[in-house]
Amino acid sequence: MKFPGLAVCLAAFALAACHSSPNDDSGGPTPVDRKVEIAPILTTADSKDPHSYARPLEARVTHVALDLNVDFGSKRIGGTATLDIQRSPQAKAIVLDDKGLEIQSIADSAGRPLDYKVGAADPNLGSPLTIALRPDTRQIRIAYRSAPEASALLWLTSEQTAGKKHPYMFSQGESIANRSWIPTQDSPGIRQTWEAWISVPSDLTAVMSAQKGEKADPTPPPPDRRSFYYRMGHPVAPYLVAIAVGDLQFQSLGKRTGVWTEPAMMKAAAAELSDTEKMVDAAEALYGPYRWGRYDVLVLPPSFPYGGMENPNLTFLTPTFIAGDKSLVSLIAHELAHSWSGNLATNATWNDFWLNEGMTTYAERRIVEQLYGKKQADEEILLGLDALDKAVAEKGGPRGPDTRLHLDIGANRHPDDVTSDIAYEKGAAFLRTIEAIVGRGRFDAWLKGWFDRHGFEPVTSSIFLGDIRKNLVGGDKALEEKLMLDEWVYGTGIPSNLVRPDASVFAPVDKAVTSFDSGGAPDSAAWAGWNTDERLRFLTRIGRKQPNERMAALDRAFGLSKARNSELRFAWLELAVANRYEPAVASLREFLSSQGRGKFVKPLLKALANDPQWGRKIAADLYPKVRSLYHPMVTRDLDKLALGG
Ligand code: BES
Ligand code: ZN
Repeated sequence: MKFPGLAVCLAAFALAACHSSPNDDSGGPTPVDRKVEIAPILTTADSKDPHSYARPLEARVTHVALDLNVDFGSKRIGGTATLDIQRSPQAKAIVLDDKGLEIQSIADSAGRPLDYKVGAADPNLGSPLTIALRPDTRQIRIAYRSAPEASALLWLTSEQTAGKKHPYMFSQGESIANRSWIPTQDSPGIRQTWEAWISVPSDLTAVMSAQKGEKADPTPPPPDRRSFYYRMGHPVAPYLVAIAVGDLQFQSLGKRTGVWTEPAMMKAAAAELSDTEKMVDAAEALYGPYRWGRYDVLVLPPSFPYGGMENPNLTFLTPTFIAGDKSLVSLIAHELAHSWSGNLATNATWNDFWLNEGMTTYAERRIVEQLYGKKQADEEILLGLDALDKAVAEKGGPRGPDTRLHLDIGANRHPDDVTSDIAYEKGAAFLRTIEAIVGRGRFDAWLKGWFDRHGFEPVTSSIFLGDIRKNLVGGDKALEEKLMLDEWVYGTGIPSNLVRPDASVFAPVDKAVTSFDSGGAPDSAAWAGWNTDERLRFLTRIGRKQPNERMAALDRAFGLSKARNSELRFAWLELAVANRYEPAVASLREFLSSQGRGKFVKPLLKALANDPQWGRKIAADLYPKVRSLYHPMVTRDLDKLALGG
């Protein structure tokens, strides 16, 4: 393999890191191979991670072995993390990321204590954990436990689960939260293989983002507990380590796909997910072989803070994607596509989040096109373009610095506060524009090649541009000019060569919007014939200001307050809050109390809180009651509204 652009390996101190990436597409389990060849640490100007304290050019973690107890009583995960490291012979210390960990001891492989220091805590980044190295240190063992308020973890009581009988715990690592339960170098540019022994109460099951291993526990747990072993033999970014523990059941969906969830959720979840195996086939046709073995999904309790999270081997999903008619399964296509864009070729820093999400959003719609047809794909692209316009407006308009694809986040800002639909929708629009200009055949060939060239490696905007110039543009000056590559990546707003799909797929809906906006009655017969995307187009495009009687007419005609489709319900409730529509408040309260998906609860609670005359008292009454249902990633943001709780 060739090293892109300025990227160099760790040749400075012969770290055996200058090798090609592993190429395991056997589809079978991937044993942890300590000699697995790991990706180089990049040294391009845009590859320095401002959100990690690690100094990987001096010493880096290559493998993490966890031996952990999950304790529901104290809301802590504790035990040991044994880290293999590669280092310069001159390195005096290794620096890890630590967020609130309670460290008991640190020693080398011979059990000799190593000096360490936990630096000052930054509210977003946590603390540097600096561990002194002896000249011969190659492995370190950290005995520790996570804090009860660890930002990656949510601990649910039995009452907060579907089955109501067992507690539940899960993690969400992206972007910089895994340092709150794993002491390692928590930077997406520093890939690590890993394995874990996890001990849990014997009536619960632990699942992780790796393959399950059958292996005898060297330290068997007491009779009231049982242990699980997982291993990830491919080097992955640390934000992709994930765990969930609860009363979990498994059901197969196909030869390499299946679903985990609480028993009470299984029937509905498995029915909604029945196209999963077909999606893997469609994604492979687009991207090349699926390199991870199994593709399973975990349907979490409604507290899961995202729609989905692309944890390798085990996508985590919100149950709010279950609409009963598979109308929201583009979410699965999205998380699956991350098995290439994101998990194989990974943004080296959060400044290039668009390389994860924009590519994935592009691919998501290609998979949708393959499975459900061009009309549905075009509709989703068009909804995405509306979301893009909204994001540009929210980020300060076409000159807003955060409307760039390549961001400049800086250590003083949390990546989660800066990344937005720009990465998803401007990123996807960019790739679609390139596809339209060069033609699908040529673009697909480049895309497949990109993952062959950068599998299991960190990537940056400059690597992307270098690769596309070399392997797609190939010195064609006229083409280079048409593509406007630098303007897309480094410029603000939306470049003038954006290719829009034909909006005629939405013509009947747009006609209905015009008619409603000019005073016409809501057309329930038309509504009944529309799919979810068409209904969303209608609800997000009608005038934002509606008098009460028009709101009532909409609700009567379309049953919106009772909608069980979470996206429709959300679109309706946003409109209701904007219009202080009292009759929808019961529905709003129920929605905010029954799920904690950030995409839904954050905008609604923010809109309420920012309306001192009307909404704020609703939010102030509700938030303290529902807060424990929401993940720390969601409450970090919502607590800023100072609603109490
Ligand atoms: N990787 C993201 C989730 C994420 C983003 C976690 C940033 C932490 C920080 C995931 O793939 C995603 O994009 N989820 C979307 C769904 C998708 C269909 C747009 C979501 O959760 O809304
Ligand atoms: Zn994504």
